[in-house]
Amino acid sequence: MKSDRSLDVVIVGLGRVGRALAKQIQKADSQLRIVGLADRGGLLYHERGLSASLVDEALSAKAEGSSIGICPSALPPIYRFSDLATSRTLFVDATAASGMAAGWCEVLASSGAAGVVLANKLPLCEAWSVSGPLFNHPRVRYEATVGAGLPILSTLRSLLATGDLVTRMRGALSGTLGYLVNQVSEGHAFSAALSDAIALGYAEPDPSADLGGRDVARKAVILSRAVGWPAELSDVERDGLVPDSDAYQGAPSADYSSADRKLKELFADADCDGIAIRYLAQITPERISVGLARIDLHDPFAALAGTENRIAIHTRRYPIHPLAIAGPGAGPETTAAGVLSDLIDLAEKSKLRGENPCPC
Ligand SMILES: NC(=O)c1ccc[n+]([C@@H]2O[C@H](COP(=O)([O-])OP(=O)(O)OC[C@H]3O[C@@H](n4cnc5c(N)ncnc54)[C@H](OP(=O)(O)O)[C@@H]3O)[C@@H](O)[C@H]2O)c1
Repeated sequence: MKSDRSLDVVIVGLGRVGRALAKQIQKADSQLRIVGLADRGGLLYHERGLSASLVDEALSAKAEGSSIGICPSALPPIYRFSDLATSRTLFVDATAASGMAAGWCEVLASSGAAGVVLANKLPLCEAWSVSGPLFNHPRVRYEATVGAGLPILSTLRSLLATGDLVTRMRGALSGTLGYLVNQVSEGHAFSAALSDAIALGYAEPDPSADLGGRDVARKAVILSRAVGWPAELSDVERDGLVPDSDAYQGAPSADYSSADRKLKELFADADCDGIAIRYLAQITPERISVGLARIDLHDPFAALAGTENRIAIHTRRYPIHPLAIAGPGAGPETTAAGVLSDLIDLAEKSKLRGENPCPC
């Protein structure tokens, strides 16, 4: 168990990301200790920190599909996060739950918690009136919501903090769609590529949010809001890789023959025209669009391989050759590393404010 000098972390959501994060915190020689682990079934909590063996036991149970609720020392699920908060508590939202924004705003407003780190995109994509307070709040971080472990949002924050002005952004923001587009452009049928993507863990068993472009639309809204353009999700012009009506047909054996045919034709035409196709988000202060885009073969986005993400950020300082960030943009380990980096950043800030470590 780590000392009372540590900052306290409560991880809400123990899926692939939450579990990977808990393991990384245990291994890291950081001033962080886990005091709470929560899923939909319950909460394990101890104000002086959960023992390493209890954390391991809980993570093993979760990996096998059980609930925290079955652990003998578990408490009922938390409804008010602020009840657990002290000025040394850092909360992590590693759920995929909707309706969390108000709870996190309450934590920040009423309890003075050390901070909130989001892997969950949904709290950042509610109506601006609800999500707005989370953006640019000094004690909120959300690096992993776009590009997983890639330093995209911290780079934007640093550009803005040093007086630069973002003018537009272009991004390949989905590892799943990147993989599918690459496979189809190499001549594989969309349906076969999708089955492979699910088997390899690149796509969710229900891939509808990815295929319909809704997940990329959320990331685009987060990027837009992060640079001060408070767009709504409903403002996004969205074309799915396949239309919403085809995006999920209820079973892995769903009939994607129409999508197979349409995408094969589209990519064959692009081949004839000597251009590439990528699934891109284009973000300006006036307009956000997500969908398939025809691009020059020399465009750096044309060279993206596998599940790679890339963003090009045009600013006043980088007007012609944009600032570009690229690399693996998904996966529980890299996502958890992005969350851990946010936690360490908030812990450092908290130390600078002199709120901890506790001198006891
Ligand atoms: N996987 C990636 O590569 C990646 C990359 C970037 C961002 N993200 C984001 O990170 C988040 C977590 O991803 P994941 O892959 O770990 O998801 P996941 O495997 O579906 O796990 C979600 C976890 O959240 C818990 N949960 C849901 N609603 C809750 C609630 N109201 N209160 C407490 N716990 C709740 C679930 O509890 P039960 O176990 O009880 O069902 C589950 O443990 C998602 O928002 C995802 O979009 C993931």
